[in-house]
Formats: sequence, structure tokens, C-alpha cells
Amino acid sequence: MMNDPGLFETIYTTRALRRFKPDPVPDEVLFQLFDAAIRASSGQNAQDWRWIVIRDGAIKRQLREWALEGWTRYSARYGTAEEIAALPRNQRLSLNSVRDLAHSLDSVPVIVAVLGMKGRHSTPGGSTFPAVQNFQLAARALGLGSSIFNLPMRDQLYEMLGIPENNQLYCLLPLGYPTDRHGPLNRKPVKAVVFDEKYGASWAFAEGQPERGWEDRWVR
Ligand SMILES: Cc1cc2nc3c(=O)[nH]c(=O)nc-3n(C[C@H](O)[C@H](O)[C@H](O)COP(=O)(O)O)c2cc1C
Repeated sequence: MMNDPGLFETIYTTRALRRFKPDPVPDEVLFQLFDAAIRASSGQNAQDWRWIVIRDGAIKRQLREWALEGWTRYSARYGTAEEIAALPRNQRLSLNSVRDLAHSLDSVPVIVAVLGMKGRHSTPGGSTFPAVQNFQLAARALGLGSSIFNLPMRDQLYEMLGIPENNQLYCLLPLGYPTDRHGPLNRKPVKAVVFDEKYGASWAFAEGQPERGWEDRWVR
């Protein structure tokens, strides 16, 4: 067994990692991630999630092209490269990592396409994203990094990947051994998002906790 960071350290340090070493992801590791992913819950235990492992260079190059188009549109919201460079640090770093991933998508070791059954569940995605979260936590626990990356999403992906009509593509997960560090996470505190009995009513206990929550208990 490798050094297992434990559940809470894993949870507190699983951030979106978008830059990878070229090292391939061994099949035993990939299998472990999927075997953990499919332990998730789903409506009626339907387990409609389907996963496509993309390692083929031609497909990755096409995804990169679409990601770059997506990046051009997305980054325009934030202005020019100079305007992005002037944004607050967190925002700038995260945008830069999105930009770098778009540019390097063809050299990411694995891209996983995540699918679910169309129209079957009343909460679209609700029966798919718990498995995605398991996948990302398992990846982090084994020293890999990933992120949900939907900039390359296009209708043409259905044809390219042979996805049947009754399936919906929910997200793409680029995966590999990261060059950036895991965690810590930039999140609003519990008191900002959890209410006591009524929407908007503050929860006194949470009010008394540090801004950064209990991260220090878990992140070494
Ligand atoms: C449903 C969903 C869609 C997302 N789509 C994208 C995306 O298209 N591109 C991207 O770079 N990140 C995407 N993300 C990742 C988020 O941007 C990322 O988790 C968030 O910024 C928090 O980053 P951190 O975990 O590094 O703090 C998505 C996340 C979710 C849950």
C-alpha cells in the first residue's frame, strides 16, 4: 500500500489540478480510480454512469483545438492577457491554469469522458457527479491530479466518441501526475452557506469557527 493520506486530508486537499507530468497513468491505477468511482450512489442504484478513457493522440489533439476555441471565448470575459495579469492572485492563478491546460490538452496522459443516461433521473447529473467526486478523491489519494474541464465540450464529441443518443456527456476529466501541489482549497466558510432552520438564519456554532474552518486539523 502506498502512503494513504486518509479521507479528511484527501478531502481538504483535492483541488483542481491542471498541469501534468508526461508520465503515463498505469492501468492498475486507472482501474483503482474507476473501481472507487463506481462505489458512488445513484438514483435507484441505476449506475447509469459510463466512462470513456481517452489516450489516443488524434482525439486529444482535436480536444485541444476545441479547448482553445473555448478558452478564447471564456477568457474574453476577463479581458486581455494584461487585464488577466492584473486580476487578484487566486483568480489569476486559476485562469492561468485553465489556459495552460487548454494549450497542453494533447499531452495530458488521460482524459476521461463522463456520461450518464439522458432524461432518466429527475436531477440531471445528481446520479453522475457523486461518482466523479469519488474518482477525483481517489485520484488525489493516489497522488494524481484532475479537474473537471468542459471547455472542449462540443456536440461533435458524441460522434467522435461514438456516444449513443440516450447518453449525455456530463464532463471531461483530464488526469495525470500533477506538477502543482495538492490543496489547500479556497472556499467560503461553513457559516456563509449553512443556515439554522431557515434560509439566511445564521448557525451560531459555525459563526464561532475560524474563517478557514478546520483545515489545520487535517492538512499537514
Ligand atoms: C460541474 C463543473 C464544471 C466545471 N467546469 C470546468 C471547466 O469547464 N473548466 C475548468 O477549468 N474547470 C471546471 N470546473 C472546475 C472548477 O473550476 C474548480 O473545481 C473550481 O474552480 C474550484 O477549484 P479548486 O478546487 O482548485 O479550488 C468545473 C467544476 C464543476 C463541478
